[in-house]
Amino acid sequence: MPALAHGLSPEDLSAQSMPDCSPGKWHLAHTSWFFEAMILSADPEYQPVDPRFQQLFNSYYEALGERVPRDRRGLITRPSVDEVLAYRREIDRRMAAWLASGPSSGLQRYLFELGLHHDQQHQELFLMDLLNLMSCSPLDPAAYAVEPRQAPLEAPRGGAVAFDGALVTIGHDGAGFAFDNEGPAHRVWLEPFALAADLVTNGDWLGFIADGGYARPELWLADGWAKVKAEAWTAPLYWRCDGDDWTVLTLTGRAPVDPTAPVRHVSFYEADAYARWAGKRLPSEAEWEHAATTAPDAFSNLSGEVWQWTSSAYAPYPGFKPTPGTAAEYNGKFMANQMVLRGGAFATPPGHDRVTYRNFFYPQQRWAFMGLRLAEDAP
Ligand code: AVJ
Ligand code: FE
Repeated sequence: MPALAHGLSPEDLSAQSMPDCSPGKWHLAHTSWFFEAMILSADPEYQPVDPRFQQLFNSYYEALGERVPRDRRGLITRPSVDEVLAYRREIDRRMAAWLASGPSSGLQRYLFELGLHHDQQHQELFLMDLLNLMSCSPLDPAAYAVEPRQAPLEAPRGGAVAFDGALVTIGHDGAGFAFDNEGPAHRVWLEPFALAADLVTNGDWLGFIADGGYARPELWLADGWAKVKAEAWTAPLYWRCDGDDWTVLTLTGRAPVDPTAPVRHVSFYEADAYARWAGKRLPSEAEWEHAATTAPDAFSNLSGEVWQWTSSAYAPYPGFKPTPGTAAEYNGKFMANQMVLRGGAFATPPGHDRVTYRNFFYPQQRWAFMGLRLAEDAP
């Protein structure tokens, strides 16, 4: 993660743009704190690097006590960025010693792997939050000279891929690392459906806008329409219209909206309204996973561009068991009022995504690297 901070100033790394976002400095500290809180502190003899960091860099673990409220993370001016980087180096050193001494149990080994995947999640959050911060400046700052992305965008294939109705198995079967929310594997009945080979593009979205998409309540869920009105949504987040010209802020600055590129930064409500306008619907997460598992080569950009909204509420799978101990709070307690996204984004670290991966956000959120792929019932 420290590589993401190269070229950014201490000011860039310290400001907080909105309650959902954290300063880069906080992300850097929190992912090292995670190893300290979840692993190193299990030793009764353990002396923390700085006991005060517990309050500063605990995100949401009630079991670990009081913390700085999420919306006040931008006010943590001390420790400095340099002190946070020194904290990271010290935790890395202690973790290397812990690894050399041999983790004591299967759970300890799992928590270590969880800590690595947690750091990868925060690498993407760092970039999402940085773009949101840059969007607060009228200067349209470019955070980087080149977009940090894991793989090139894939060319569209056209059309949709049909699947028969079937009893399918989805979810993680336990081989290799997965977050607790991905399991257990279980059966789901699917009616016949088709899934678009490609992601919805900016050009498609311009058609939705031109057809009054943001002005027609009949296309929207009631909660979505309330957001359109309350926040005066007329386009995806970071889009701007000057005359007839649409531009969008990216991590490399403001650029013309490319009609051939997949649309980014739309909420679940917008994705759902778009699908209704197009005469289609969003896929369920089981449809998405079945399609991606059985016909991965039939689709473009299954991962590596944007997380894709599904129609599935983020809920426990049958038989879900949270990770034991403090890490039980990692995923399970968020299983209400959020929607599942599948795939992976350009900013997701290579190898972090999986076909069973369940990302989740609230339906009005749109600062993540999120878009959509349409589905339909078989005719
Ligand atoms: C899965 C992206 C919603 O941002 O809270 C970070 C990831 N979990 N630290 C979040 C996560 C613990 C999570 N999301
Ligand atoms: Fe976290």
